[in-house]
Amino acid sequence: MAIFSWEAKDGVAVVTLDTPGAPVNVISRAVTEEMYELLAVLERDASVKAVAFFSGKPDNFIAGADIEEFVRLKSTADAEQLARDGQALLDRVATFTKPIVAGIHGACLGGGLEFALACGYRVASDHPKTQLGLPEIQLGILPAAGGCQRLPRLIGARAALDMILAGKSERAAKAFRLGIVDELVPPSILQDIAIAAARRLAQGVFRRRRRGGFLGLLLDGNPLGRLLVFRLARRQVLAQTKGNYPAPLAALEAVRHGLSHGMREGLRREAQLFGHLALSDVSRKLVQIFFATRELKKDLGVPGAPPPAEVQRLAVVGSGFMGAGIAGTTVVQAGIDVRLKDADLARVAKGLAAARDIVNERLTRRRITKFEHARLVALLSGSDQYTGFGKAELVIEAVFEELAVKQQVLRECEAVLPASAVFASNTSTIPIARIAEAARRAEQVIGMHFFSPVARMPLLEVIPAAATAPQTVSTAVGFGRRLGKTVIVVRDAPGFWVNRILAPYMNEAAQLLLSGVRADEIDRAMVQFGFPVGPITLLDEVGIDVAQHACEVLQAAFGERLTPPAALAALVKDGRLGRKAGKGFYTYSGGRKGSVDSAIYPLLGVQPNGGIPSAEIVQRLTYAMLNEAARALAEGVVRSPRDGDIGAIYGFGFPPFRGGPLRYLDDLGADRVFAELQRLSERLGPRFTPSEAVVDHARSRARFYP
Ligand code: 3HC
Repeated sequence: MAIFSWEAKDGVAVVTLDTPGAPVNVISRAVTEEMYELLAVLERDASVKAVAFFSGKPDNFIAGADIEEFVRLKSTADAEQLARDGQALLDRVATFTKPIVAGIHGACLGGGLEFALACGYRVASDHPKTQLGLPEIQLGILPAAGGCQRLPRLIGARAALDMILAGKSERAAKAFRLGIVDELVPPSILQDIAIAAARRLAQGVFRRRRRGGFLGLLLDGNPLGRLLVFRLARRQVLAQTKGNYPAPLAALEAVRHGLSHGMREGLRREAQLFGHLALSDVSRKLVQIFFATRELKKDLGVPGAPPPAEVQRLAVVGSGFMGAGIAGTTVVQAGIDVRLKDADLARVAKGLAAARDIVNERLTRRRITKFEHARLVALLSGSDQYTGFGKAELVIEAVFEELAVKQQVLRECEAVLPASAVFASNTSTIPIARIAEAARRAEQVIGMHFFSPVARMPLLEVIPAAATAPQTVSTAVGFGRRLGKTVIVVRDAPGFWVNRILAPYMNEAAQLLLSGVRADEIDRAMVQFGFPVGPITLLDEVGIDVAQHACEVLQAAFGERLTPPAALAALVKDGRLGRKAGKGFYTYSGGRKGSVDSAIYPLLGVQPNGGIPSAEIVQRLTYAMLNEAARALAEGVVRSPRDGDIGAIYGFGFPPFRGGPLRYLDDLGADRVFAELQRLSERLGPRFTPSEAVVDHARSRARFYP
């Protein structure tokens, strides 16, 4: 056996799963086959009274079924059979003649948790790396190796649905509270405790905690309560997915069916639903995103670039919202020293407080202990001078968006930084090459464009200028990754990637408003299409003044097609800057968004007339973006369709189930997009003129993805 090994310890078979050469353990066909063999051996061996099961990987228990195998599935029947095979294996585990204990340290996800659920007892290490969950929904499938059956039976339908439908993993302590884990122990004694539990079970000593609490008893314990749970969950799923994602509803059905008709029937339904979902277009798209994100994790941004320089201390200039966000996120994610500098101490203090809030939030959400909190807060320091910069390997400036100011900061930094340090600008509108004109070491200047709020937004654009050295790129990319960001390397062109393709979309939203479409109608249409928020809400979030400035920069670079409608200026003049000003397109009170402020219509000089159907709203907005995305890709703004799509999904929430703008363009067909753009340009003006890239793709029937 190559994947499993075992030794006997006083009647307990201590089994280790360690797939050779693989970074994580997954349940593949090979693992399945070996597990059957192993169980047969352990069953036959009379000296084995119980089994304790561990992973040989340092920080991973089992990461689930092998996702690579899903991609190769050719038919729903094959997919259903794959699920049936997984269920049969775990049935063998669940009905094994000797007790099996899972000793869990590290990620225990999907099929990994389903395996643990099939074991008789679970001991988990109380360690941040130990996460338990059923993330299948995020891949457009459902837990199909019995997860939709065993979890609700163990912790109740309500708690199980919370986990399954969100696809979110939980820390070991929470899993313990929920009753998924029977014992929670420090990592150092995991083995001993799990083996002791196995021995106890072999002697027939069995102890299970009561779980679920009063509410759980009330809701899960009777059919009426359960009906209520399912009705509420269904309503919530539909509100969240707008019917765009079939997997959560399917999971709901698998759980419901199993609880009403018994385990065996439930398993059958679960496998059947998996068969359909695994082959669905939505699942294929979500799995592609999983693979694309994983490829990006290994990509240093420049072929053959030297490895990133080590960064032990970050310096941040500018302690506003972005600077503080970068500082706080760095401390929380990378756990290194951060020095924050601004022009005066009052601002520095405000920035430090905002950075500390990010650390505090981790404590409130119980992601860190009080001790870790104190340690992380101590890593933050500030000054109105450049003291402490002499030890920084990387500085990120987030000062006022003006070339002269940024160049001045660059000069001052170069005077105090070590000669090898990298200078990064968080500009969103100024070319990096222009900033670097002031540099003595232009090869160490780069753009790192974070999105707001930094702690929550998953994307980072890294922008090398022509003179930037490969190692400067890999250092910025590597550092971004340490902050937990998905990083795309983009060309030093106006708007970079995200703002470039957002601009025509936002502009078109403004055009629609000016033609009498109600603001909330535009938002509703795009949320239904799959965006997390509509473009008008997004304008309020970003700041109408900020968006207007970004659009002006793009207009200066690209001319008429990216001209923002002048009417936006009327809103800015009225002090309607969006959420931050407490008034924008929508009303805000106590930080909460209200309804559309009807005062915007007279300001824009229109009367809402409801004349445009939502299908046309969607088409105008998306086609404006697709056209620009194809053009910018052809100009080399992103290195590949993969980077462009990931940028749009993580940068502003382009609907993941559509795979990103370039995949969506492929799905629509370039010839159709070309024809529709032409029709729109005849009716609405040259801003819809098909880009050369769309024309070329339509003519040659080419696709962005093979
Ligand atoms: N199948 C195949 N490969 C997997 C995998 C899986 N389930 N999980 C992780 N990997 C691979 C990654 O692709 C990557 O491969 P690479 O090094 O060749 O690029 C490698 O393992 C390491 O992964 P990460 O770079 O993501 O490592 P991290 O340490 O950052 O994260 C992890 C580890 C938390 C386990 C993360 O990889 C993860 O979330 N994996 C996916 C988990 C998942 O979705 N499981 C459900 C699978 S579906 C299922 O189980 C269906 C069942 O119900 C029938």
